[in-house]
Amino acid sequence: MVNSKNSTINLYNHTASEWVRRQPLSLSDFTARPIVLEMCEPLNQLQVLDLGCGEGYCTRELSRRGAAQVYGIDVSQKMIEAARLQELENPVGIKYEVGCATNLQQFGDEEFDLVVAVFLFNYLTIAQTQECMTEIARILRPDGRFIFSIPHPCFPYMREPGYPFYFQVEGTGYFSKRDQLFPGQIWKRDGSWLNVQLIHKTLEDYFNCLRMASFNTMPIIKELRVTSEHIALDESFFSPLLDLPLHLAIQVSK
Ligand SMILES: C[S@@+](CC[C@H](N)C(=O)[O-])C[C@H]1O[C@@H](n2cnc3c(N)ncnc32)[C@H](O)[C@@H]1O
Repeated sequence: MVNSKNSTINLYNHTASEWVRRQPLSLSDFTARPIVLEMCEPLNQLQVLDLGCGEGYCTRELSRRGAAQVYGIDVSQKMIEAARLQELENPVGIKYEVGCATNLQQFGDEEFDLVVAVFLFNYLTIAQTQECMTEIARILRPDGRFIFSIPHPCFPYMREPGYPFYFQVEGTGYFSKRDQLFPGQIWKRDGSWLNVQLIHKTLEDYFNCLRMASFNTMPIIKELRVTSEHIALDESFFSPLLDLPLHLAIQVSK
């Protein structure tokens, strides 16, 4: 079993400053986050929790789009410091705390209308994903929504490692490499990149965890990809990934 939490804290404490941004920079700022944020609408007057909020890129956007109160939780102290600094520079009332997504005891039952987790679960094992989703179900109001994005579980097995996005899974192993941790990189349009990680889980793993956490309604699923708009914007950046399933965005309700 990987010591995923220490590895994650170490990675993000060392790279927090590289994540800070006020406009879309990395590949998934174009191919994933805009769609996830759109799925979160309407946000008016909602109590929202952004789990694995990082330096607050999506958290700030959830607030800007009208949420009544947004909380951001991240396991990395440096990511939370970077988020708080931006809140200090431009206060919008977001509350950021260091915390682990598998234990949300600081929040009461049925406190939130919406829980969002943008690329959090690729840092959690199957057991941790189960714990986290059970906690999310506890803190969501009846009819509350849970929206999350993950790397498409098939993506790493469909492409050799390379620019502008990969996870280095080495060969096949969609089923046999469950719960193993793989390094990856995702590029920004300026030519720099971010180091990321993947604890591989199959689609079945994700949906078993949701069901065990008692999310029993039909999910909304979007398989996120490079579109013609991306190609028109920057063909050399996006075209190596054309026609590949990059990420999944999933919405379930309690
Ligand atoms: C890929 S980054 C995404 C950050 C942010 N959601 C965004 O979209 O910019 C993943 C984040 O999840 C956080 N994370 C990983 N494991 C966590 C855990 N167990 N509890 C809370 N945060 C965690 C990392 O520290 C990191 O900031």
